Amino acid sequence: MKFFIDTANIDEIKEANALGILAGVTTNPSLVAKEGVDFHDRLREITQEVTEGSVSAEVVSDDAEGMLREAEELVKIAPNITIKLPMTLEGLKACKALTDQGVKTNVTLVFSANQALLAARAGATYVSPFLGRLDDMGQNGMNLIAEIAEIFDRHAIESQIIAASVRHPMHVTEAALNGAHIATIPLKVIQQLVKHPLTDAGIEKFKNDWEQANK
Ligand code: E4P
Repeated sequence: MKFFIDTANIDEIKEANALGILAGVTTNPSLVAKEGVDFHDRLREITQEVTEGSVSAEVVSDDAEGMLREAEELVKIAPNITIKLPMTLEGLKACKALTDQGVKTNVTLVFSANQALLAARAGATYVSPFLGRLDDMGQNGMNLIAEIAEIFDRHAIESQIIAASVRHPMHVTEAALNGAHIATIPLKVIQQLVKHPLTDAGIEKFKNDWEQANK
């Protein structure tokens, strides 16, 4: 399973990239709105200064025509821009049209296996099931990842599963175990993945032993 970072914050993206683990970036309109910057300028910064990996840029139109118009401008920014489309009838139409043009797509807001299968059949490069938002309403988000992974595997579907709406380290482990190809994760959770109290205690002991021996 690969790691994407789920943010539009350039410093966070740079920090994750410096760890050498970053394969891509996902943004969404809420994350971009928090930054208070021009969306296209931020995408330029991310694609020119940080990563050649997939950078998901979400459209906000309701109809396929509008989505395609937005996508046309977004793909001019860099070759690694992936168009993020909502899981709607219009989103599927736009997905098919962009796939035919050779543009990479990420169908987002996926909450059922049927939605994932439809997105895949419309040619989606990535499908994004939202774990945390399902967990929030008392459903098990991880079961959805497992179902999608089994369906894609059984039918030799090439669309990649991005575990999205990741809230904590267990989501990451379980997404990997259940067959997600990618997890898109906030920086805070990436940093939590690194930490283990036994690692900290081990470093402390090695340092003390070294100091004792070299007095
Ligand atoms: C993924 O592409 C989305 O941007 C994101 O994971 C949504 O996460 P949230 O449910 O924490 O907002």
